[in-house]
Amino acid sequence: MQIIRSIKKMQVISRQLASKNKIGLVPTMGFLHEGHLSLIRKAKKLSDKVIVTIFVNPTQFAPNEDLSKYPRDEKGDIAKIKAAGGDIVFIPKRDSIYPDRFETYVNCEKITQTLEGESRPTHFRGVTTIVAKLFNIIRPDVAVFGQKDYQQVMVLKKMVVDLDYPIKMIIAPTVREKDGLAMSSRNKYFNAVQRKEAICLYQALKTAKQLVKSDNVNETIKLRNSMKRVIKKICPTAKVDYIAFTDFESLKITKKVNKNTICSLAVKLHGVRLIDNMKMG
Ligand code: PAJ
Repeated sequence: MQIIRSIKKMQVISRQLASKNKIGLVPTMGFLHEGHLSLIRKAKKLSDKVIVTIFVNPTQFAPNEDLSKYPRDEKGDIAKIKAAGGDIVFIPKRDSIYPDRFETYVNCEKITQTLEGESRPTHFRGVTTIVAKLFNIIRPDVAVFGQKDYQQVMVLKKMVVDLDYPIKMIIAPTVREKDGLAMSSRNKYFNAVQRKEAICLYQALKTAKQLVKSDNVNETIKLRNSMKRVIKKICPTAKVDYIAFTDFESLKITKKVNKNTICSLAVKLHGVRLIDNMKMG
């Protein structure tokens, strides 16, 4: 497995590979867990050469967010990528991705306004900018993203259509811990007691789905109230940022659940902001 740190070198190698290989890309910010590794395995099935990128992207963090303490483990990550079947790891330097006079950003304007975008107004501009840059450097045929960050992948899919990238976008299912907590690099911020309370997001989503499926409840107002009760019961100090029911494709808010509805939520617990989602249909 090759480790590449220079943009120029990455460009040369991916153009060489492209003549004979289908290139799969898995962008990450490192500190890899099973969720990331499942994307690498999926990319491996769909392409000949898998390139995994590790870059903690400063432009997607607001000044008050956790950029400086974001967990890192480059050595461990490289070993995990190798074991999962990655062919190349691209680890660019911050100054080469964003040199001093950098001033060009990619911005998807509408579907970034709701959900995560409402709470984190500059976040998606950073995500679309870095992913566009990685797409330009690597020119993959296939790119794999997790449903865990559902709005992110829908925003990136929109960018691919709007900017004519010839890239197949794949959404891989959320990988969860045994108790249902969605795997996330940020879970490591919790102590044992807090970690137990972090299942409140999954339990709330499961409760809503259960009410839809078994009790035929479809008014989102009722579902949201039940979810809030579940969260408070499991973690009394949790602060719900949003619980939103939207159409899976358009991200438009729905008042009544149908087969295309997805529920997304963000909850702050013990200083850590977690997100999760589940299809209700
Ligand atoms: P990061 O949080 O490292 O996630 C990298 C990829 O792993 C994303 O596509 C994310 O949705 C996916 N992922 C994370 N947790 C997952 C889980 N439990 N199950 C399945 N997939 C999971 O998302 C980012 O980095 C960045 O925003 C990035 C796209 C790399 C741009 O900087």
